[in-house]
Order: sequence, then structure tokens, then C-alpha cells
Amino acid sequence: MCGIVGYIGEQNSSEIIIDGLKKLEYRGYDSAGIAAIVDSNIVLQKKQGRIVNLEESLKNNPITSNISIGHTRWATHGVPSDENSHPHFNNDKTIAVVHNGIIENFAEIKNELLELGYSFSSETDTEVIPLLLDYYSKSNDNFYEVITKTLNKIDGSYALGIINTKYPDTIFCARKDSPLVIGKGENENFIASDVPAILKYTNKVYFLDNYEIGILTKDSIKIYDINNNEISKELSEIKWSIEQATKAGYPHFMLKEIFEQPESIKNTFKHYIKNNKVDFDYLNIDLNKIDSIYFIACGTAYNAALQGKYIFQKLAKIKTEVGIASEFRYSEPFLDEKSLVILVSQSGETLDTLAALRLAKSLGSKTLAITNVVGSSIAREADDVVYTYAGPEIAVASTKAYTTQVAIFYMLSLYFAEKKNLIDNEKYQYFIENFYAIPKKVQSILELNDEIKDIASTLLDNEHVFFLGRTLDYYLAQEAALKMKEVAYIHTEAFPSGELKHGTIALIEDGVPVISVLTQEALIHKSVSNIKEVKSRGARTLSISFEKHKDLLAESTDLFIPIPNIDDIFAGFLSIIPLQLLAYYTSALKGIDVDKPRNLAKSVTVE
Ligand code: M6R
Repeated sequence: MCGIVGYIGEQNSSEIIIDGLKKLEYRGYDSAGIAAIVDSNIVLQKKQGRIVNLEESLKNNPITSNISIGHTRWATHGVPSDENSHPHFNNDKTIAVVHNGIIENFAEIKNELLELGYSFSSETDTEVIPLLLDYYSKSNDNFYEVITKTLNKIDGSYALGIINTKYPDTIFCARKDSPLVIGKGENENFIASDVPAILKYTNKVYFLDNYEIGILTKDSIKIYDINNNEISKELSEIKWSIEQATKAGYPHFMLKEIFEQPESIKNTFKHYIKNNKVDFDYLNIDLNKIDSIYFIACGTAYNAALQGKYIFQKLAKIKTEVGIASEFRYSEPFLDEKSLVILVSQSGETLDTLAALRLAKSLGSKTLAITNVVGSSIAREADDVVYTYAGPEIAVASTKAYTTQVAIFYMLSLYFAEKKNLIDNEKYQYFIENFYAIPKKVQSILELNDEIKDIASTLLDNEHVFFLGRTLDYYLAQEAALKMKEVAYIHTEAFPSGELKHGTIALIEDGVPVISVLTQEALIHKSVSNIKEVKSRGARTLSISFEKHKDLLAESTDLFIPIPNIDDIFAGFLSIIPLQLLAYYTSALKGIDVDKPRNLAKSVTVE
């Protein structure tokens, strides 16, 4: 939800800002803007639409400056327009602000400022910030104190970048509940919502915590708390490279990330399996003190968590629930100190998931974060954290984060099963062997790329696509349906195959695509019957199942995508791959901007 970037140094900042904004475009892409200090004045350029519009505008009217802040927007308050684009500024344009987050009490502050004679030039919540900074500056010469007064006045979430013509060599920044990193360079320093924006220039970063304020010149970084105490923070070194955050020859990040899955799954297993044993001993979780587990997540992470529940119950025999974060928070959950709440989030910044984490902690529950982003809010606030090793996921549609989250669930449940003496060594090793075998099997499915592209070309004109499955296959169907909706703009529904005839089958008519996942051996014959039911009502059927079931499905399915044979308990790792490719190619062939589907953003830091 919005990306901010800032530069102070010796280079021309506008190129660095545009470059950084492009890396943050996944966070929002309704409009973009830049503010720089030039000859003691603030110059601004703001453009509705993609960052290329701002880039074009800068080509026509270049800004040359060593200090700038920039923003790419995902609109919350006010339509996407030049006026509502950030940076926002005070009435005499001496202070400019970029903001990621939401100011919840902006309406009452706005009224107060209007009464004080201030005028507004946008419909945004953000604009109250430069105006408050202006107001407090009138009675205070210390801009740090002016910032703290402003932060004490506003409610909500923010990552802020601020420049002020009175301090032409300084960028100020602050955060609460929206991510912000400070990058340390040589004779230059940076701020950004996320590391890829500045990784080309530095891999040394400070992760700002809530209520911290950063003051950057080209050769110094000082960080303060809100009570004027200077803080000494650990400088983190980012281990992944800029190549990992680029498309590396693929037309889209989504395709690249789908193809990275053999590697990311392997890395995730490798990280936690030592000498054929899963090692989570560093976690501070005493299973004797836990009587229930709750997985809480949103979107794709929620769909992954459904697989988590399946394997936790099956293998570790622990009562497990899965909740959508935004619902869970308001459902008066039965949480206490005997509950383990597992927050699953690729970004580690999803506000609903973060709020659920805080609720769980306030009720005395133990919390565990499963996330892909080191130093993210959810990682830092949870009692324990397990990282997925997917590498940076840039496409808005999550793919490799999903399969690495599932890898963590399988390893954790195996670890818990062993702790509870529920599994003998032979079965334990059987799991480990299968974990090792999965990446290669994923790779072999990726080789069906061209066939899947051809199948996708038959879906382009469809308004509706239905997905069917039972138990684990149904959870996969839900993720497949979400992928197709978000990137291909096709209305999809996922149904449990057995529930079809209780209403949904009324929607089946001539030519409607019905995609079935059939991997659960005990249910396969029932599922085949369900395919026959829709086929006889005119549906075009596509089935995804093990190679060995090709003949079994020959009569009921028009199209068949085989996945390598594997024990059906592990099938979820494999059956999702063709479904991701199918969504990708349907989107790409429709000419959609696959990595940045309309109305979406990668990191959802609003409720
Ligand atoms: O960063 P998170 O895993 O917390 O994000 C949760 C959802 O916003 C995310 O999975 C979303 O559904 C994706 N666009 C799915 O592809």
C-alpha cells in the first residue's frame, strides 16, 4: 500500500528516486510523485497513472538535486489524480511529505487546520501532516520536536519521508505500523518502504521500529525515539542480490517466481533440515502447554494455511483452526495462554494479520510468525519467527511464497509429531525423503509450460471458471480460483466437489470450464463421478491428477494435466504449479499487466 523512497547524497536524486519507485511499484501504482530541494525551494512533480508517466514528465522538465523524496500510490482517501498524488506540502511549499499508511483522525485535524486558516489542495488524509508540521514550526525552531508533536497528534499508521527547505541537507523519516528502512551508503543515504528500492546502491540497512524517527544527511544517520533519546540500532546486511529482485529475462515477475519454486522450496527445506532431521529447536514452544493452534492469514497465505491445518491435524494430531485475519479479530476468538497463534504472511506487513497478532498477544496466547521478509513488523512482534526462504517475491500474485509456506507447515508438523512421539523413525525418514524429492517433481511440471499455455488460450473469453476438489484438493482449488481472479479478471469459484449438487451445479451450462484437482486416492472415484455430473451438463472439463490416473480420467475429462506420482499427502506441492501457470498465461494472453493487476497491491497495510 504505497511505496516511499528518499535520497540524500552527491548524485542526481531524481534518477535514483524513479529507479526506486519502479522497484516499489508492486505496492501501488495509481500515481507517483517526487519532491526535491533546488536552490532552497521545493520543486514537485506529480502524475496520475504509472511511474512511467512521472518519468516522462521528468524527461521534459528535469529536476537536478541531491535530495529528493518520492512516492507511488495505492489510493485510499481521494481518487487517483495529480492533486491527490504525493508528495503533499504546506501552503507556502517549504515542507514536503510522502506517506504510506492511513491517518485515521485526519477529518477532525483537517477541520482544526481549516479553522486556523490553512487551505487544502487534495482530498487525502496525508495532507494534514505537512500542514501540522507547518503549524507547529511557527512556535518551535527544533524540527525534530515539530515532528514528534505532529506524530503525537495523528492516529493511524505511517511511514513518512519529509524534506524542509530550512534543512536543505537533511531527510527526516518516521514510522508506525508501515514499513520503513534506512539504507546506509558511502556519502549518501536512503529511505525506502522496502529493500529492493535501494539494493542497487547499498545492502546495509536499519529497519526502523514503531515511533522511531530518522534524521539523515549524506554522511550521517541518527535515529531517535519519540522522547528525544538517540537509539543505537543494529545495521543489518541484506544477503540476497539485486538479480533476485529483477526479472532475469522472464517477461513477468510472476512467471519468474513460478519457475523459481524448485529452488525456493529446496532452500526452505534445506534451511531447517540438518542430518535428515527437522530442526526447530530454537523455537520457544512447549507443546505440553498448547492445546490448540490457530493459523491466521489473508489471501493466498490463508489458502496455504488451509494446507497447514490439514497436515497439522493429520500428522501432529493437534486441534487446528484457520482464520481470515480481518474476520478472526472480530469473532471473539477463544484464545488463551494455551493457544498457539501462527500468523502467516509473505510480506509480514499485512495490517489485518498484524492486528490479529496483537490481539492474540493481548489475550496471553503464544505467537509464531511465518513470513518471507526479515525484519518485517509481524516477524518482529511475534514471540517466535520461522522464515520462508522464497527470496524476494515481487509480483502482486503470490506463488513461491505459498509453496514455501506449505513447506514450513509440513516440516513443523513433522517436528511436532516427533516431539509427541507420534511417528516412528521409518515414517519420519519417509517424509524427509519425500521433501527432498519434491523440488525435482515441481521442475518436471514446469516443463509442461507450453501445453499449459495452449490450454490457457482456450479460457480467454470465459466469464466464469469453476474449480472443484475434495479435502486437500479443495484447498488447492481455492488458491487456484484466487490466482485466476486476481490476474486474469475472470470470475471463479472453488467448490468442494461433493457440495456441487446442493446448489452450485445450477450454474453449469454449455461450455463453462470446470477445472478439477484429483489427488486424494480415497476420494478419487467419487470425484470422477462429480466431473461426469458437470460434463453431462455441458461443462468443458480439465483435470489435474497423477500420471497414473490418466486412463481413469479419460472418459470424464476433456483435457488432462498430469503431475508426477507421489504419496497423496504431498500432492499439494505439485498440483498448484499447473494452476499457477494457467492463471499466469490466461492473464498474459489477455494482455493484462500480470505483475500489477488492477486495484491490487502487494502489501496490504490498510484494514
Ligand atoms: O503479505 P501477505 O502474505 O500477508 O499478503 C496476504 C494477501 O494480501 C496476499 O496473499 C494476496 O492475496 C495476494 N495478492 C495473493 O496472490
